[in-house]
Amino acid sequence: MQQRPSARASVLETVVLGVTALIPTLAQGAILRRPRVVRLAARFDTNRSAHRTLARLRRRHGAGPVSVAVPGRRVLLLLSPEDARHMFTATPATLTPTAREKARGLRHFEPDGVLVSAGEVRAERRAFNEAVLDWGAPAHRLFPALTPRIRAEAQALLDLHRGSGRPLDWDDFSAAFWRIIRRVVLGDAARDDHRITDLLAALRADADWLSLRRPKERTREAFLAGVRAYVDRAEPDSLAALVAGTPCTEGAEPAGQIPYWLFAYDAAAIATYCALALLASHPEHAERVHTEIDGAEPDRPATADALPLLRACVLESLRLWPTSPAVLRETTAETTWHNGTTTPAGTGVVFYSSFFHRDARHLPYADQFEPDAWLDGRNQDNWALAPFGRGPAQCPAQDLVLCTAATFLAALLRDHRALLLLPRRPLVPPAPLPRTIDHTALRFALTPK
Ligand code: HEM
Repeated sequence: MQQRPSARASVLETVVLGVTALIPTLAQGAILRRPRVVRLAARFDTNRSAHRTLARLRRRHGAGPVSVAVPGRRVLLLLSPEDARHMFTATPATLTPTAREKARGLRHFEPDGVLVSAGEVRAERRAFNEAVLDWGAPAHRLFPALTPRIRAEAQALLDLHRGSGRPLDWDDFSAAFWRIIRRVVLGDAARDDHRITDLLAALRADADWLSLRRPKERTREAFLAGVRAYVDRAEPDSLAALVAGTPCTEGAEPAGQIPYWLFAYDAAAIATYCALALLASHPEHAERVHTEIDGAEPDRPATADALPLLRACVLESLRLWPTSPAVLRETTAETTWHNGTTTPAGTGVVFYSSFFHRDARHLPYADQFEPDAWLDGRNQDNWALAPFGRGPAQCPAQDLVLCTAATFLAALLRDHRALLLLPRRPLVPPAPLPRTIDHTALRFALTPK
């Protein structure tokens, strides 16, 4: 059979894509958000313009993938759930998650992470991540021990909020969440170790420039040495202790997996904070969440079956405002797509989450808050939805993240109601939810129930 290449975007389409989708996404910082640019992007709802551009491409070229020239190579933009399914379910041997753009960015702070690894070591590192993160288990084994720590940090945040008389803002929320992240990943001794996360932030800021900035080797070495010290310390009830105690193969680079975990957990803070905003704007769902929290035994640790509605609210927050703007792959063999077109090896493949997650063609409630769709099976077989990726490279920490977020929200809301003070343009139905959000601008009052 004769091979047919995928449709190509014209020069004009490529320029429009660059201006409406690529530049705004990169400018906001895919690895470390730049607050001023995020504010601007939200003001102009840039994801809405990006969405229009992709929808126009689909009208013109059909639902098959479209090939776009980017500096240095061609990438393939997926436009249909069928192709998304193909991308997610392919094995790393034919469509590797280690796309070169990702590797160029992430090597600034995680030179040995699974996401920048290829071939056999990738498989070893993936297996090690799955073992420590309890991928596939009903709940992470550390959760009984972590629950009281998460609740204590929520209480400290509530005390601060009450004591200061100020609204709850992103700076305080994120500081509290970072204390949790450091305790979960590195151990209680790291609770106030701002130095290690400041070093990481400096490296992440450079990572957003890909190869345009050289990795700061001294900063990276200081950061990685700090991480290794926590693994040596192996404080009980931390992921660092599990890293130290989990048998692994030679290429697994156990401590080298931790930088990515610290970075990725930060996204959970954003998703949790936006979920709080959704609840504050949807009183009928907030009522149900309060009933769920009241029904949960306060001393029982969060498990996979605990707080299902709250977990669904966090998933919904990630659907509406995905913290990973795109999931990337790279073909390592010739690949055939659902419309019969083929792509050679070495092509970048893009699943643009903010487009797929809001695609009314495949999701009747695209622009509404619909947490129940995660509980009643409506979202289950929908390949347009991948807040944590899917298939063999799916995020192995999904349950750890959802448990952390739901436990934290439950602790904040057990005795309080959240009132959204800002933004002034409310997130209230029937108006469609904005496609771009500036989480740093959200402000809340937490009033006693
Ligand atoms: C809100 C928080 C998070 C979100 C939305 C998220 C989402 C994702 C996504 C979309 C991927 C790519 C999947 C793919 O390529 O198909 C991924 C991969 C990954 N995530 Fe997460 N993640 C989060 C937090 C975390 C945390 C806290 C950890 C570790 C403690 C983690 C560990 C990983 C690892 C190791 C991979 C690479 C998997 C591989 O390439 O095989 N993630 N995550």
